[in-house]
Amino acid sequence: MAGTDLDQVVDNEMRSYAFPWTRGVFADCLKSAYECWVVQTGGGELIGHGILSVGAGEAHLLNICIRRDRQGEGHGRALLHHMLDCARLRRAHVVFLEVRPSNRVAMTLYRSLGFEPVGRRPGYYPADRGVEDAQVMALALA
Ligand SMILES: CC(C)(COP(=O)(O)OP(=O)(O)OC[C@H]1O[C@@H](n2cnc3c(N)ncnc32)[C@H](O)[C@@H]1OP(=O)(O)O)[C@@H](O)C(=O)NCCC(=O)NCCS
Repeated sequence: MAGTDLDQVVDNEMRSYAFPWTRGVFADCLKSAYECWVVQTGGGELIGHGILSVGAGEAHLLNICIRRDRQGEGHGRALLHHMLDCARLRRAHVVFLEVRPSNRVAMTLYRSLGFEPVGRRPGYYPADRGVEDAQVMALALA
């Protein structure tokens, strides 16, 4: 991901999440030298993005998103594999993430790759009616 990708990234984010990240958050991630990646089609169109922070042997998957009209085609799984490879290259031994328990597709994807629930953050996410807990999941890397 480069700064010039941000218009498209923010547009994709807004189409895919009820509570999207702002442009400023993505810009901060780029400045912080997080692992910031986009999924690009052969025609050059950006259809997804992923953000991972790594430090002290631990990685944290902060965002993974495939544009709504391109979901269910295997891009999310491919992007997640790539983000895990990045974590391994940066010598992380574990990857953590938070997910809404109501997010069935994401939960299924994470579980299929071996992520296990390790905790709960009460009231972590904004929701249509109040807040929603986060399920914390972890994957030990070989
Ligand atoms: C979660 C997300 C990244 C998955 O990406 P995707 O490209 O749609 O997913 P894929 O096509 O790679 O499918 C990956 C797995 O998800 C599950 N899945 C995909 N679509 C599904 C559906 N409609 N119902 C149930 N499970 C589904 C399956 O386990 C699938 O694996 P399989 O095809 O081998 O069975 C994507 O749906 C997305 O961007 N959602 C909005 C943002 C979001 O919720 N991000 C996660 C925040 S924690």
